[in-house]
Amino acid sequence: MRLTIIGTGYVGLVTGTCFAEVGHQVVCVDNDTAKIKLLASGGIPIFEPGLEELVKKNVAAGRLSFSTNISEGVQKSEVIFIAVPTPPQPDGSVDSTFIERVARDIAAALTGYRIIVDKSTVPVKTGEKVAETIKRYGPAKVDFDVVSNPEFLREGFAVTDLMKPDRVVIGTRSPRPVEAMKNIYAPFNAPIVVTDINSAELIKHASNSFLALKISYINAVAAICEITGANVQEVAAGMGLDERIGRRFLNAGIGFGGSCFPKDLSAFIKIAEEIGYDFRLLKEVQIINRGQMDRFVKKITDTLWVLKDKKIGVLGLAFKQNTDDVRTSPAIELCQRLQKEGALLRVHDPKAMTKARAILKDVTYVDDMNAVADGCDALVVATEWDEFKKLDLERARKSLSHPIMFDGRNLFDRSEMERRGWVYKSVGR
Ligand code: UGA
Repeated sequence: MRLTIIGTGYVGLVTGTCFAEVGHQVVCVDNDTAKIKLLASGGIPIFEPGLEELVKKNVAAGRLSFSTNISEGVQKSEVIFIAVPTPPQPDGSVDSTFIERVARDIAAALTGYRIIVDKSTVPVKTGEKVAETIKRYGPAKVDFDVVSNPEFLREGFAVTDLMKPDRVVIGTRSPRPVEAMKNIYAPFNAPIVVTDINSAELIKHASNSFLALKISYINAVAAICEITGANVQEVAAGMGLDERIGRRFLNAGIGFGGSCFPKDLSAFIKIAEEIGYDFRLLKEVQIINRGQMDRFVKKITDTLWVLKDKKIGVLGLAFKQNTDDVRTSPAIELCQRLQKEGALLRVHDPKAMTKARAILKDVTYVDDMNAVADGCDALVVATEWDEFKKLDLERARKSLSHPIMFDGRNLFDRSEMERRGWVYKSVGR
């Protein structure tokens, strides 16, 4: 099918590329001229495993192209996906400016029936507003349908998540677009949930908030483990074997971050508030998440006492592994908290150092992870990169003034670390 994706951020670019990969004819549109130029010349603005190869392959095959022209995209395609940002406002509510703008742009370009699909994470009832807007600003006699089709990809695993989705959600007010939507997703062989538009929008906010809740839950359990001498990883393993619970998203740490969970949680709380429901459960999820960072910083100050002029090596800056994204990264927040106490930082991340440089100043960026500990008083693990498990622990132990490690992601084995002579503090163990 001929598809246009408006917005080439994480969601738009990966979705467009994977649609092309399964044989659709895709145009990715963005108003950022520099980004479109970069993509058209074979460059990729983000690090995402497997994406670059797929983009190149599909551009070469003539199935994927890039443009800055929305109206051309609307005219050429049968289905138009909206994948623009929905950033948070200072009060936590969603800023829908970009969606509204795109809805008007689509309206202005409509000449015949089109399916307009919202992929961005939006408050419930946004689809209705998009439909009203297109009707108001579009040509009187032209018919269209609005569909909600939320995206569930995780950064760092985006291509896999898109090619093998757990489910595809199609929310619509009329049956007319269902057939076309099913055709688009047929090659992905995933269960398809067809529902009304408001339910589809809610599925996204309810899913992300539930996953965030799961993380806060295990972080609260981790606090109990620390007091009682239990091991949160053993607890999570035992809980996770119950299929109703599942082991995934039960990793205790320094809290969740990124561009989705914190934002979507605030948005869902705000949406509930606006319709008269006080979602206290989710407020508690936020409180536990903030407390997790406080408790970790306290662990460091309890051990090192005064941080002023102490040298601390930090492994990890991205908000999680497999990405160069540092937006709302707990690792960056941790660095800033340590800096505020006067600590001097040597930091490393396998992919995120370029993006971190723009927001994290006055630290020493170290290219080799094994050199981060050189001359430091302690080492901190802040992101769950698998490759940190291959750290040369002997070298790190010798280069630190005292072998002290604060492992905010439980990457290392506690008894093994202690056997090797480390003062080792982790989370919930
Ligand atoms: C999240 C959801 O997982 C996706 O399904 C969703 O599509 C996406 O948001 C979105 O709304 O666009 P993402 O933000 O890429 O994906 O990252 P996650 O893998 O969910 O991790 C989020 C944060 O939780 C990270 O900081 C991670 O370190 C933390 N986390 C995750 C934990 O602390 N413990 C865990 O067990 C799992």
